[in-house]
Amino acid sequence: MNAGVERLRKSSGAIAGSAVVAGSRWLLMSPAVRGRRFPRWLLWSAASLGAAITANELAGKPVLPLRWSFLRMAVRTKHLLTEWQVGDGREAALADHVLSHARPGDVDDAIRVIDEFCRQRTWLINVGEEKGQILDRAIERVRPRRLLELGTYCGYSALRTARRMPPDARLVSVEFNPAKRGHRSGDPRPRQGRRSCQRRRGHLGRRREHPAHAARSARFEEGSLDLVFVDHDKNAYVPDLQRILDRGWLHPGSVVVADNIIAPGAPEYRRYMRQHEGTLWRTTEHRAHVEYQSLLPDMVLESDYLGG
Ligand SMILES: C[S@@+](CC[C@H](N)C(=O)[O-])C[C@H]1O[C@@H](n2cnc3c(N)ncnc32)[C@H](O)[C@@H]1O
Repeated sequence: MNAGVERLRKSSGAIAGSAVVAGSRWLLMSPAVRGRRFPRWLLWSAASLGAAITANELAGKPVLPLRWSFLRMAVRTKHLLTEWQVGDGREAALADHVLSHARPGDVDDAIRVIDEFCRQRTWLINVGEEKGQILDRAIERVRPRRLLELGTYCGYSALRTARRMPPDARLVSVEFNPAKRGHRSGDPRPRQGRRSCQRRRGHLGRRREHPAHAARSARFEEGSLDLVFVDHDKNAYVPDLQRILDRGWLHPGSVVVADNIIAPGAPEYRRYMRQHEGTLWRTTEHRAHVEYQSLLPDMVLESDYLGG
């Protein structure tokens, strides 16, 4: 893509913030509307917000709630929570960006390009670099041969997992939104070794059981699953973990890593792990931050299954 368009895209947040400032200022100065349709306090608030957005964008987007792409996502929360895509095409834009910027077949480079895109251009709900390293370390500790991921999204965590898992390991990643299943940026099939990654459409729940024999169709044998990464619907963490236990896929020593315990939050899951601490599970709580920024806190739980 032409460098001018690329620069314009990177600056779109600053441009939008400046436009809000200019618009509010114009309304404040205009005698026709002053104090009538728009109260002055509202115009001053809009101008301040616009100035804060512009400053944050120009300073490298350190404050997540002031990032233009985060605000755009916030107004589309309903769409995100029903479709699990923001609805402004950012997931497809990421795929295009990876295809045009990452070295083909180079997993490390694809991860680098995704992280750069999310930090510098548009924020996405990947596990991100900081929490991704917690997942990396769990994989290095367990050396899992059979892995299950719930929540593929654009395939970022699947790429990280594929990079760290042993050469003969197999990862199955489950995603209920078909739009992401074949996502080009997230093709986690590494070329080297005998590692295998499969994306499955579906979920583990009962209501939409039909497409969701996904994980079951992956034919995990009893006690065969070494590591599970839970990163899908936060309300489904406990019921889906229970389903995995009921199917007998885990063995003592299996590890479950769960993202987003604080933001947006999975309090029921944290409570469940605390209730069963020392009997069914032994959990480490890793304090971290929401992806691609360092102000808002988040937490990842790493739980060793004790059996029973
Ligand atoms: C936070 S994103 C996953 C991010 C991904 N693990 C990463 O770090 O790159 C959550 C994903 O879970 C999917 N999802 C939500 N509920 C689900 C369910 N019940 N079963 C399967 N996938 C689900 C959404 O469509 C969304 O793509």
